[in-house]
Amino acid sequence: MSKRYVIVLAAGQGTRMKSKLYKVLHPVCGKSMVKHVIDGMKEVGADQIITVVGHGADQVKEELRNDCDFVLQEQQLGTAHAVMQAKDLLQDKQGLTLVVCGDTPLLRAGTIQALMDYHIQEGAKATVLTAIADDPTGYGRVIRNDRGYVEKIVEQKDATDEERKVKEINAGTYCFDNTALFNALEQVSNDNAQNEYYLPDVIEILKEAGETVTAYRTDDFNETLGVNDRIALAKAGKIMQQRINEWHMRNGVTIVDPEQTYIDASVQIGQDTVVYPGTILKGNTSIGDDCVIGPNTEIVNCSIGNKTTVRQSVAFDSEIGATVQIGPFAHIRPQSMIHDEVKIGNFVEIKKAEFGKGSKASHLSYIGDAEVGSNVNIGCGSITVNYDGVNKFKTKINDGAFIGCNSNLVAPVEVGEGAYIAAGSTITSDVPGNALSIARARQVNKENYINKRIKKD
Ligand code: UD1
Ligand code: CA
Repeated sequence: MSKRYVIVLAAGQGTRMKSKLYKVLHPVCGKSMVKHVIDGMKEVGADQIITVVGHGADQVKEELRNDCDFVLQEQQLGTAHAVMQAKDLLQDKQGLTLVVCGDTPLLRAGTIQALMDYHIQEGAKATVLTAIADDPTGYGRVIRNDRGYVEKIVEQKDATDEERKVKEINAGTYCFDNTALFNALEQVSNDNAQNEYYLPDVIEILKEAGETVTAYRTDDFNETLGVNDRIALAKAGKIMQQRINEWHMRNGVTIVDPEQTYIDASVQIGQDTVVYPGTILKGNTSIGDDCVIGPNTEIVNCSIGNKTTVRQSVAFDSEIGATVQIGPFAHIRPQSMIHDEVKIGNFVEIKKAEFGKGSKASHLSYIGDAEVGSNVNIGCGSITVNYDGVNKFKTKINDGAFIGCNSNLVAPVEVGEGAYIAAGSTITSDVPGNALSIARARQVNKENYINKRIKKD
């Protein structure tokens, strides 16, 4: 089989994004556009992938560091000029070269494969991927002759009124015979409205040289969506969101309202888990089987075991076990480790804390920098006092301890196994195991106080 090469164009600034972030690095469902493109190309399989970088070269290289080779396009003189930067690496090679834009994140591997198969079947030197757009504004238009063969591609800015009416657009994805591509590139000029070297001009050049040039039209315009501004970015996000949600539903996840559920491409969810509306699952998150997530819940970089419930809550960078109940209205902050059968109830904030199996903090607590054993009960309103204004200190609560309501545990401090803390205590020194510790003023009742006061007045 002949060798396959891929060139990804990712050197543009993305002026129309009006952003500090380089265009191809803008995320769609948590993954940068260019990474979506590269992952698709890898699925198809290539002998070498070369990404053309320019604006934000360092950042783009960092993002794709394990994925491909790079060439630098110092000045962005157009898409043909961008491809030319790969000349030293590719021009002498025999084979097939795919060129894709880094701003078309919705392209599917299957479509690329079909484009390539068609190209080979037709014995073409160049095949362009096209689609029919309801609104083709901004795209290059595919101009066909009377017999339906592709003649050339004209850019929006160079097109006549007649040509602008054409709804078949250039997706910016092409399959070329490698040698023919680099020969034709030599002949591309920048004599056009934008004074740029246009890659689509290669089509006309090859056609005029008598080579076979074809177009492969996909039925799904959405796949070819090129993201040039934030409006297209939102559209791409919506379509990707739908794909991701459908993928999970096919795998046995119930998503009650897919329109209102936002799941990053990287997230894993087990069977029979139910996701309610308003849920946002991001980053390196994995959720087990039979969980209930949401409504209105944000989970970022967390692993969650089976049969766990997280309602109306937020959780970041933490490990959460099986059969855990979180929320409503809980906040799990980074580096927390919540073991099985734990309950973290309403208005409880957990930070950098470990909770042993079966422990509970059911209401209105702050537990930070803490190690909580198993079967500990933390009463309503209890907190760890972990910060003295300069340093943070650790609280340790051993297995089976019972922390009465509204207690302050002033760290560093340790509560022994099975110990009891009386409600309202402010604990400043260690409590031995099985002890009862009371650290508050004894109650004083002033008898008949009101009557005495009235007399005085
Ligand atoms: C391009 C096509 C247009 C097609 C559309 C599909 C050209 C001239 N036009 O237009 O026919 O319908 O894509 O989405 O090719 N880039 C570089 N170096 C450059 C210029 C661009 O690397 O000098 C990269 C950009 O980073 C981007 C891609 O090439 O990823 C496409 O460039 P862009 O400016 O977005 O082209 P369009 O105007 O969308
Ligand atoms: Ca574009």
